[in-house]
Amino acid sequence: MKFYIRTFGCQMNVNDSEKMAGILKTLGYELAQDWTEADVILVNTCSVREKPDQKVLSALGEFKKIKKQNPNAIIGVCGCLAQRAGYEILQKAPFIDMVFGTTNIHHLPKLLQEAKEGNKAVEILEEIDSSEFELDQYPTVRENKYTAFVTVIRGCDKKCTYCIVPTTRGKERSRRIGDILREIQFLVEDGVKEIHLIGQNVTAYGKDLGDVKFYELLYAVADIKGVERIRFTTGHPRDLDEETIKAMADIPQVCEALHLPIQAGSDKILQAMDRGYTQKEYLHKIELLKKYIPDIALSTDIIVGFPGETYEDYLETIKVLKEVEYDQVFAFKYSPRPGTPAADMPMAETPETLSKWLNDLINMQKDITFKKNLAYENKVVEVLVEEQKEDGQYVGRTRTNKLVHFYGRDNLLGEIVDVKIEKVNRFSLEGVLN
Ligand code: 5AD
Ligand code: SF4
Repeated sequence: MKFYIRTFGCQMNVNDSEKMAGILKTLGYELAQDWTEADVILVNTCSVREKPDQKVLSALGEFKKIKKQNPNAIIGVCGCLAQRAGYEILQKAPFIDMVFGTTNIHHLPKLLQEAKEGNKAVEILEEIDSSEFELDQYPTVRENKYTAFVTVIRGCDKKCTYCIVPTTRGKERSRRIGDILREIQFLVEDGVKEIHLIGQNVTAYGKDLGDVKFYELLYAVADIKGVERIRFTTGHPRDLDEETIKAMADIPQVCEALHLPIQAGSDKILQAMDRGYTQKEYLHKIELLKKYIPDIALSTDIIVGFPGETYEDYLETIKVLKEVEYDQVFAFKYSPRPGTPAADMPMAETPETLSKWLNDLINMQKDITFKKNLAYENKVVEVLVEEQKEDGQYVGRTRTNKLVHFYGRDNLLGEIVDVKIEKVNRFSLEGVLN
């Protein structure tokens, strides 16, 4: 028996899929090369913007074919779109056998059994109960042997007016620190070198537990022998305090990279989004980061065209991008999400104008990203070697999360090596083993 999982969306979804693969392996299933040979197909969905919604729906059309080929195949839909609109999906695509929400993943064995018996297996909880932590007991099946995601907190208590996540992922629930450290110990014994702590709002870790803070978690993870690198995503600017920034600078394993979404540069728009900071307050955090960690690589998320955003507001975003000089920017056009407070707010501009703004912003940022990469020319950087191509070329990442291609000697997979950068591209660096 074989399974296939298609994952949309963020790192939390990737980690959930790795856990589902772990559950299915425990049940005796093997990973299929592609969906045409699978007995169980799971689609782990995202609902953050309208586009991912549509992508999921068209993927489902594709999977319908599998039922013709193999009528016994079981198709399940889970993740954020399932949580938000599970019953709607079932109506639109009645050939689906299982639908489950973001907090029901640990019930996959039970749901699969129900589906096998010919029933529609549906479980979408409105109320979250602590049994969801059972999911963390399962092993993960990971594509990357040397770097691993570890979920430390689920959900989000912020109320950004554009965002569907509090609806699809619920309130903040931190995992207990002992459980997290045990999982990391296990990963390290399995050969993992880089631990990537994840959560919708990782910097809020511990607030609901009351006795532990995020920076203390960083120190505790760093104390585990064999943890060579630590990353974390996503931090919220409001919860990123000076203690955390100091810990980042102080702990040798914490990488010099941070994704800190600003969303918009204009104070008026930040307030309408209910982000809880002004441009000045955000820039103060950036200043602190650069002060404590001078060679930090920063990245951010931008929403272009939030309701009410005028050209002057948009120019404030451009101003911030020019000032901060991010290594990478993920920018999207605002997309109204059903049920969010902003969904009914009127737009100030036409979709065409917003597309132009978005394009201009992306083009401007391309040059900044390239300029940041150029600073690596002829430098020696530390690379964790994650992959080797057929022609022997290695692929890895710097501590600042830059992709590096290089040639070296045999048996470097999983090693941390020095690479001299000889060529700089827009999205990657090329070099030779130093
Ligand atoms: N429209 C556009 N982008 C959005 N994001 C979240 N909600 C929306 C929305 N309604 C973006 C934010 C967030 C990233 C994951 O997706 O920038 O940081
Ligand atoms: Fe998409 Fe947000 Fe859900 Fe991640 S948490 S899968 S980004 S909707």
